[in-house]
Amino acid sequence: MATKIGILTGGGDCPGLNAVIRAVVKGGIKKGWEVIGFKYGWKGMIDRETLSLDDRSVAGILHRGGTVLGTSRTNPYKNPEHIAKVREAFKFHNLHALIVVGGEDTLGVAAKLAAEGSPVVGVPKTIDNDLACTDYTFGFDTAVNVAMECIDRLHTTAESHNRVMVVEIMGRHAGWIATYAGLAGGADVILIPEIPVDIDQVCHVIKNRQARGKLFSIVAVAEGATFAGKGVVQEEKLDQFGHVRLGGIGQILAEMIEKKTGFETRVTVLGHIQRGGSPTAFDRVLGTRFGIDALRLAEEKKFGYMVSLQGNKIVPVRLEQATGSLKLVPKELYELTQIFF
Ligand code: F6P
Repeated sequence: MATKIGILTGGGDCPGLNAVIRAVVKGGIKKGWEVIGFKYGWKGMIDRETLSLDDRSVAGILHRGGTVLGTSRTNPYKNPEHIAKVREAFKFHNLHALIVVGGEDTLGVAAKLAAEGSPVVGVPKTIDNDLACTDYTFGFDTAVNVAMECIDRLHTTAESHNRVMVVEIMGRHAGWIATYAGLAGGADVILIPEIPVDIDQVCHVIKNRQARGKLFSIVAVAEGATFAGKGVVQEEKLDQFGHVRLGGIGQILAEMIEKKTGFETRVTVLGHIQRGGSPTAFDRVLGTRFGIDALRLAEEKKFGYMVSLQGNKIVPVRLEQATGSLKLVPKELYELTQIFF
């Protein structure tokens, strides 16, 4: 009987997921293995919703965003029957290994299963780039490039109208996308969850620019940025991993800026545009490298590990270590952005 491995993608989708799936399927087939996909993350293991994956099922998906397996934010540990079904699924499908592609939540489940002895290998994904123990997650580069292009576009219209443009960028706990896209796009103010918003300082920077004859300003704000530690939410209802739906800080900030400075201000919320569409070359290559290395870990029975990028090397790290804390934007990098304000 052929060695059988499973793969699932969980949490928010992200450009580059299909590159991982393709690499796992093609690489697995080369080893003479059978590969099955679980649909919609952990939900597919609970509901036994599977797809048999072969060369044909991964043809033409490398350049496509999203995930051909579908995804969900299902947390099987929320319900004892669900986690029992996940444990059963390993036996039912006779899995040699399960490759779990996810962010902190999906991989948090994988870490717990690995601690119980399940044969799990992790692959880190998130546009937010906030997973610990890896320099980058795939999806981040695409999101940064999308956000940068939007800032470029906002620049020309801001300049024509002498307006302040606030652009709300994704980033729940960490401001990686806002920092990188803000730096790359030449934003005049960058606000991230790691440092509470100081509205007087923001207005000071904008007024100072006006005084120097720069009659427009771009403010890049991460959706998870806070006022004195309090974030802005669209919906208080928690998802299965205990997260609220963020969003709205851009609008509040724009109103405050207009009121305090008297300058005409507009707001743009980038939202899921940052997560959709074709991955960049960097994300396709990183996803492919991660997929191939996850297969190597499965072959070596190195379970309970996640592949990671350190420098330009793919290195295995313990799942519980990777999911134990978040990787925030370091102070030195944020301070670098201040030089330009
Ligand atoms: O975790 C990635 C992310 O895009 C966050 O930046 C954002 O807060 C969240 O997902 C949005 O989630 P949803 O797709 O459920 O609205």
